[in-house]
Amino acid sequence: MPSTTLSPSDALTELASYSSPDGLSLSDLHASPSGIGTYDDFLLLPGHINFQATEVSTRTQITRNVSLNTPFMSSPMDTVTETEMAISMALMGGIGVVHHNQPAASQAAMVRAVKRHENGFITSPVCLTPAHVVANVLDIKERLGFCGIPITDTGELGGKLLGLVTRRDVQFRPPTTPLHEVMTTEVVTAPEGVTLAEAQHLLRENKKGKLPIVDASGRLKSLLARSDLLKNQTYPMASKHPQTKQLFCAAAIGTRPADKDRLALLVDAGLDIVVLDSSQGNSSFQIEMIKWIKATYPKLEVIAGNVVTREQAANLIAAGADALRVGMGSGSICITQEVMAVGRPQATAVYAVAEFAGRFGVPVIADGGIGNVGHVAKALALGAGAVMMGSLLAGTTEAPGEYFWHDGKRVKTYRGMGSLEAMEQRASSSSSAGKSGGAANGVGVKQALKGPVENAATSRYFSESSAVKVAQGVSGDVQDKGSVKPFLQYLHAGLQHSMQDMGLRSVPELRRGVGSGQVRFEKRTVNGVVEGGVHGLNSFTKRLFA
Ligand code: IMP
Repeated sequence: MPSTTLSPSDALTELASYSSPDGLSLSDLHASPSGIGTYDDFLLLPGHINFQATEVSTRTQITRNVSLNTPFMSSPMDTVTETEMAISMALMGGIGVVHHNQPAASQAAMVRAVKRHENGFITSPVCLTPAHVVANVLDIKERLGFCGIPITDTGELGGKLLGLVTRRDVQFRPPTTPLHEVMTTEVVTAPEGVTLAEAQHLLRENKKGKLPIVDASGRLKSLLARSDLLKNQTYPMASKHPQTKQLFCAAAIGTRPADKDRLALLVDAGLDIVVLDSSQGNSSFQIEMIKWIKATYPKLEVIAGNVVTREQAANLIAAGADALRVGMGSGSICITQEVMAVGRPQATAVYAVAEFAGRFGVPVIADGGIGNVGHVAKALALGAGAVMMGSLLAGTTEAPGEYFWHDGKRVKTYRGMGSLEAMEQRASSSSSAGKSGGAANGVGVKQALKGPVENAATSRYFSESSAVKVAQGVSGDVQDKGSVKPFLQYLHAGLQHSMQDMGLRSVPELRRGVGSGQVRFEKRTVNGVVEGGVHGLNSFTKRLFA
């Protein structure tokens, strides 16, 4: 302490006289005797705010070639991500990874449904001929969810456009009525070569439901749907392929030979990103699989993993991975560290792998153990490009499975993919289609009814094919959280506020600030964690957002 009191106007000069800023740089935190540890073992120090939280961009790179407006991914688990979750995740600016604890055909159907949910130009529209009947339209409505259908002379794309059938045309008509009696023949069309923006403008102006695009001789080339324009307006953050404007979709596979056939179906359905789902990714099976995928489908992004060390990461990066999934034993349903004695505290793992992978431009995904918004912010500060969540998203309306009551609470099943329940279901549904997989509620039954999983051991856990199955996860339930959409909005807004507190406007700014040592960290003691939580109250209600 100086012997005389300084003038307040000298505060900044005095600050500059300190040899280092308050707190620790991330590399110093890592080098400290107790290391980084878990997300709850450290905090970030606040920075300077001169902007609104709403100005903060959460845009981030999740693989070499894919960036999203939010860093949120849903886990490939059979109680977390199927069609509805994947669509909602993408609409809200994240991405869902469809699980592979199901037959390849049904996984591919889920991917196709996500890809068809929103479109720019629909380049493979369903068409019918004038000789088809109303029942054919109703059947398409039932199976695919739409009934605005172009009628061509061949019943296919490329045929001469003769008319359009919409919901109103078939309402109240007997199912046997031929479509030439009900179709609209005065159709507004746009010429081939029209830009997406021009075509969307035309659709907005003419108030029609569909805009067929035709060539000079009137042959159907593609289609534009008004419903896609509306989704555009409602979900401005949506994760879309820049060319097709379809929602991004990811799906998980294993590393067995049969997974190559599974992947062919997924790619045919429009898959953008494949996740190689293994609890320990540093294996010759995975390395061979990455090389094969990169050679066979050069445009498909490959997320490899899971890894927690530089050494594991190096093998997968060298094989061609476009991103790495980081985490071993940090998941809420996970008993890997307890049973296998192998794993790593998640914050240390994310830092170690991100620091190394970043040198090669390979993003990392912090997978497991995300329990609140603060954990998301910390994962990004440690270098992650995205977070992958299971339990936080389970129990929402969009998660698979039925609600049931447990101890007076409305809940849904949430289980580890390495739980005996999940493993047994894979085995039982491969040996006898139609039997319950043994899960406590609707999830198991629903999955088993989908039919056999062709490749019983989908190989996330190496012990699956052994005589004795060793569980690495548990099965439980989580409370009803309502729709995932408001919850994702909350996560996004919460992250913006967190970054505002750090004084940072974007993920790249955060990355630069951490790298230069300008963003500062502080180790937490056990008492520090207690102090940082709610304490000293007789009772309280924890409402997270409104
Ligand atoms: P959570 O978000 O903490 O619930 O963790 C979800 C993550 O846990 C998933 O994305 C997987 O990486 C991992 N996981 C899923 N099932 C199991 C399991 O049975 N044992 C261990 N880890 C699992």
